[in-house]
Amino acid sequence: MPRANINRRQFLAAAATLGATPLWARPQGTSSRVTSNERRDLFPEGVASGDPQPDSVILWTRRPFEADTTSSRLLIELSDDDSFKHVLASATAPVSAASDWTCRALVGNLKPASVYWYRFTDELGMTSRVGRTLTAPAQNDPRPVKFAFISCQNANFGSQHAYRRMIFEDERAPESERLGFVLHLGDFIYEIVWYPQDRPQGMYDRKIHDIVHYPHGEKIQDFHIPTTLEDYRAIYRAYLHDPDLQDARARWPFVPMWDNHEFSWSGWQSLQVFDGTTRPAQTRKVAAMQAFFEYQPARLRKSSGPGLERFDPPHVVNAPIAQFDSHGLGQEPNNLAALASLTGYRALRWGRHVELMITDQRSYRSEEPTGRPEAQEFVSKDFPELIPQEVLEILDAGRLYNGMKPPDTIRYGNRDIANFRKQEPPQTILGAEQKAWFLNRLKTSTATWKVWGNTTGTLDFRVDPQRLPPGLTQPWPGAGYAGFGGGDHSTAYVERAEIYQFVRGEGITGFATVAGDRHSFWAGLAAETLPPKAFDPIGIAYVVGSISAPGLVEALEYKLPKDHPLRQLFLAQRPGKAKPEPAINMLLRHGVRSCLDYQLTGDIERARSLSNPELAPHLAFLDMGGHGYATVRASADTWECEFVCLPRPIERVARRDGGPLLYRVVHRTPLWKKGERPQLEQSVVEGNPALSL
Ligand SMILES: [Fe+2]
Repeated sequence: MPRANINRRQFLAAAATLGATPLWARPQGTSSRVTSNERRDLFPEGVASGDPQPDSVILWTRRPFEADTTSSRLLIELSDDDSFKHVLASATAPVSAASDWTCRALVGNLKPASVYWYRFTDELGMTSRVGRTLTAPAQNDPRPVKFAFISCQNANFGSQHAYRRMIFEDERAPESERLGFVLHLGDFIYEIVWYPQDRPQGMYDRKIHDIVHYPHGEKIQDFHIPTTLEDYRAIYRAYLHDPDLQDARARWPFVPMWDNHEFSWSGWQSLQVFDGTTRPAQTRKVAAMQAFFEYQPARLRKSSGPGLERFDPPHVVNAPIAQFDSHGLGQEPNNLAALASLTGYRALRWGRHVELMITDQRSYRSEEPTGRPEAQEFVSKDFPELIPQEVLEILDAGRLYNGMKPPDTIRYGNRDIANFRKQEPPQTILGAEQKAWFLNRLKTSTATWKVWGNTTGTLDFRVDPQRLPPGLTQPWPGAGYAGFGGGDHSTAYVERAEIYQFVRGEGITGFATVAGDRHSFWAGLAAETLPPKAFDPIGIAYVVGSISAPGLVEALEYKLPKDHPLRQLFLAQRPGKAKPEPAINMLLRHGVRSCLDYQLTGDIERARSLSNPELAPHLAFLDMGGHGYATVRASADTWECEFVCLPRPIERVARRDGGPLLYRVVHRTPLWKKGERPQLEQSVVEGNPALSL
């Protein structure tokens, strides 16, 4: 394989902009002079690597020292064997209290598609555990690319043994079928933390684990949020003490992107929203970005410019944000500085077949309309979670609705409610600048598969309450279909249409979206509109179940009243079964009539025969209660995505295989040609996903 043609000087410049200590690999290895003295306790967060390219990868560790030390140096070694007889690169890198003792090093001049081992040694001769990493294949490499995508791990009340299963299967796979990297689509941490005494009753099915007490923190309702850099650092450390996550980071390079919880639950730009109040939080956004930079080795761009080891945050204050431009971007200077403190959107390439375009769904987005207090008018206890689709469309489009003739009021049941979005620009999630970058990247990509690493989902949630039999509950207040509250591209209709029309207009094929955030498994087709409008998919789209964070099914089991007249649409309670079944999977895939029949008969085939064919032609698979991970195998002619679903991860399963599986389902898509419709071929390989089909 040819080496990527980047010279040493360019490499050093690249390392500097990433804030990484550079190591330049030699062609021939020499035996290490370090006597291994592995002390994992001195490197308590383990080792990691990130964002591999054909010639380079970033290495990471943390080596904290006592309070009377302010800085030290670590020797980094990278070898092509795990006993370090062929050390190809070594250098020392500083660690200091200023970056919370974290260390980043960029190793260059590596061979593509190769496995390497690395370790760190402190000045006392104590070594970290040995990490394994891989470089990306060269751009002309025709071999299939395999990777995993994951999201949403909650160490406060969940276990991360899905990683154990990933490791177990990867170790047993033939070399050519092993994972090249792990795409982490956010919620690596949950910044909202309950201390055990805050919720003696636990959270849903789970006990609260005592993982962190914020040095500063703020208590809201019964949970705590970080307020300072020290707090954000503390939560990363707490998460990284998980043995399964630590082993995964030591086995594969990760490609991480933040979602909401790396900063704030309902946060957008540098604002936080709690208890219906939006407040400026520029200092917290910068602290969140700094901690991400320190704990996640990745090719991120910091505004402090070149600097080998430190983030050097911009100084900001929490100033109110009053002026928003026509893309909803708050013009307040501290907001702009906080957002610019770290830029995460980026593209990475693996061989001939995969270009991964990762976007930031939180930093540049406009305010989410259904999160506004005025939108509460469109929420009814009679119809939990459901909002009429036409309401969602009107609120999304703002002044652009109906050819720039938005209505003054929106009909909801027998009321006309003011259209509070009438004068405002349409919603954007990407923001103008990032969207221009993304569309250009899509257009110019030469990879077979253009993969959108979108931390949030794009597939529509739809329900057909207009087909409920009369008399079961109150009349449905909408005109037709219902969606769920917004927050992602399933209700950012205008922006999603702009992206999909671009894909169609440019004749782009092999467009595949992989997403997280929803704590559920979804496989489907990317389409701008659904029946009765045109259904004309332009790509494939997936969402992965959470590693461990509770999903909607678990929440509904606790929150939905037992006597709610529509409970059977969400949870089927069949005789002889202790736990209700996730009817919501059938609801979104087949509609209300299937759910009502299933509750009555328990006959899944018969219930499916009552499917509403117009409801969800975009969906092939849906599990609102599933946990686990997904893998992709992308080749010259086929995309294969496998969902590996584990039982609810309430307690850690310490078995080497990560415990039993619930199911393994594969969706296969032959590469389509321009103008052809993509297809999903489904096969259930193991287990029975029942209501998900
Ligand atoms: Fe999440």
